[in-house]
Amino acid sequence: MNDFTKIAIDFAYKEQKRTSMPLVQHIELSSVVGIKLAKELGANVQIVEAGTYLMDCMIGEALKKGKLSEHIIMSADKTDELLSRTDLSESNKENIKHCVLEHHGVGKFHSLESEICCNADCYRFISIKGFSYAMRFLRDMPFSDLVNLLENKSKEKWKALTLDICKKELKTQYNLITSFLEELKK
Ligand SMILES: [Fe+2]
Repeated sequence: MNDFTKIAIDFAYKEQKRTSMPLVQHIELSSVVGIKLAKELGANVQIVEAGTYLMDCMIGEALKKGKLSEHIIMSADKTDELLSRTDLSESNKENIKHCVLEHHGVGKFHSLESEICCNADCYRFISIKGFSYAMRFLRDMPFSDLVNLLENKSKEKWKALTLDICKKELKTQYNLITSFLEELKK
């Protein structure tokens, strides 16, 4: 499993370097949050770690092709390809793939690991840290587009949040972000 975690990290950073997406700071934030949650909730840490690195691994390529909505399936297909080179058990492979497929939320999660990846992804836009990274590193966008993007993403991610531990940690931060964006739109 350690070998696959390394493969996942190497691929995620290689794609990031090539396409500039997702933000390095967002990759690291989700990974740190995911590992912490996995330890606290008794999930498989290495599966969560691999999932957080791979869940948006093809988003840069998808954006280049004007197919943002396909980034999940593209990232899942790439995950499949990377997994095919390993001798992980089929259940571990399925679990990692579902971490990617379900990272924007789903009616019923395949596993605790996939639910953790989804919640860890939310920190990119509804924690003060993740939100600040987005403001800082996406500053070249037209300002009103950036405000709209942040508003849409923060609403989407608050809805996607499912773990009580995360809702508790992020509620105040999300409310602050919402008020901040309201003021910007005046
Ligand atoms: Fe995504």
